Amino acid sequence: MTGLSTSVYNVEAVRAQFPILGVRVHNKPLNYLDNANTTQKPETVIEAISSFYRTFNSNIHRASHLLGELATNQYEGARKKVQHFLNAEQWEEIVFVRNATEGVNLVANSYGRQHIGEGDEVILTEMEHHANIVPWQMLCDQVGAVIKVIPVTSEGELDLSNLSDYFTPRTKLLGVVHMSNVLGTINPVEKIIEEAHAHGVPVLVDAAQSAYHMAIDVQAMGCDFLVFSGHKLYGPTGIGVLYARRSLLEEMPPWQGGGDMIESVTFARTTYNQVPYKFEAGTPHIAGAIGLGAAIDFIQDLGIANIQAHEHDLLQHGLKALTAVDGLTLIGNAAKRASVFSFTLDGVHPHDIGTFLDFDGIAIRTGQHCAHPLMQRFKVPATARASLGCYNTTDELDALAKSLTKIRETFV
Ligand code: ALA
Repeated sequence: MTGLSTSVYNVEAVRAQFPILGVRVHNKPLNYLDNANTTQKPETVIEAISSFYRTFNSNIHRASHLLGELATNQYEGARKKVQHFLNAEQWEEIVFVRNATEGVNLVANSYGRQHIGEGDEVILTEMEHHANIVPWQMLCDQVGAVIKVIPVTSEGELDLSNLSDYFTPRTKLLGVVHMSNVLGTINPVEKIIEEAHAHGVPVLVDAAQSAYHMAIDVQAMGCDFLVFSGHKLYGPTGIGVLYARRSLLEEMPPWQGGGDMIESVTFARTTYNQVPYKFEAGTPHIAGAIGLGAAIDFIQDLGIANIQAHEHDLLQHGLKALTAVDGLTLIGNAAKRASVFSFTLDGVHPHDIGTFLDFDGIAIRTGQHCAHPLMQRFKVPATARASLGCYNTTDELDALAKSLTKIRETFV
């Protein structure tokens, strides 16, 4: 428990939960604005992981001793926390994977190989992270299917004006990012899912960026598959989630083979475990799942709506502060967006921006953000990106704007 009031968002009390925010970088206080890349971890998450290894480290589902039972209970407890976090109907619909990327790869290699063949079509968007492009491209190349791409407008929104035209009888799946890691745009996934379902096409939602900014309700959303990563959610790296409708999981073939995913094995024939275990071959990241459970507790204790309101205030403040910087151009201006700012600064390469900000203790990401097609769409070789989380402050945004002004004056 953080002990925070949910009626008043006390950002200093939130910050106090994150030990790393006390470190200094180049002898300056850390100003961490790289949350879309990965978020920092609260004490409760660090403690949950540490406590597992210190006091009940054991394998799950296979140990006939108390530690094994404790570890299994915590691992399966984390699965139920994810179920409630996503408002999934059943815990069996939650598959633990390494990250959102592995979740997409699982769907492409299991559902995809079962349903997508020569001449079939997959619809994606120009705004996708490589994680929701490359696995489909690999599959389509192997089976002779094609990818169709919904374009992005100059405002950084999906152009859905002729959405129904993308569907044909050969369309087998639509993949869409919920929130852009580059632009912060929040896509109207419910509308896209409704249209896809009207054409009998299942939808995979990449919620890697949205899951720590807003409430996700897979039943209200109506998606068939949804993926996210623990490390973006104030949880550990190496753990992620694939949500899939149970009826789909039941029909999908296993992806990886090994221990725990089987019911019985002979050299003549193997039968498979029930879902979701059919998709969790080998010893999983037990500590990671337990840490993810603690991260979900942390978010729910704070209240996702409170986090969202705080970040909305930061977004408004940041937009004002950054547009006042001479020579700065923000990429994207979506009507519905979260607290991510991608920008260029006239006369200064994004990598130089990143290096100079680092000397001021400010951590941002520069480059193409695993979204090369989006960079090509906006005709920029790279951008600088500041992305916010629950512990950021307006002072940190002012410090960013001040440093950018200094950099521009130095370079130009
Ligand atoms: N895709 C993550 C980012 O946007 C790593 O930074």
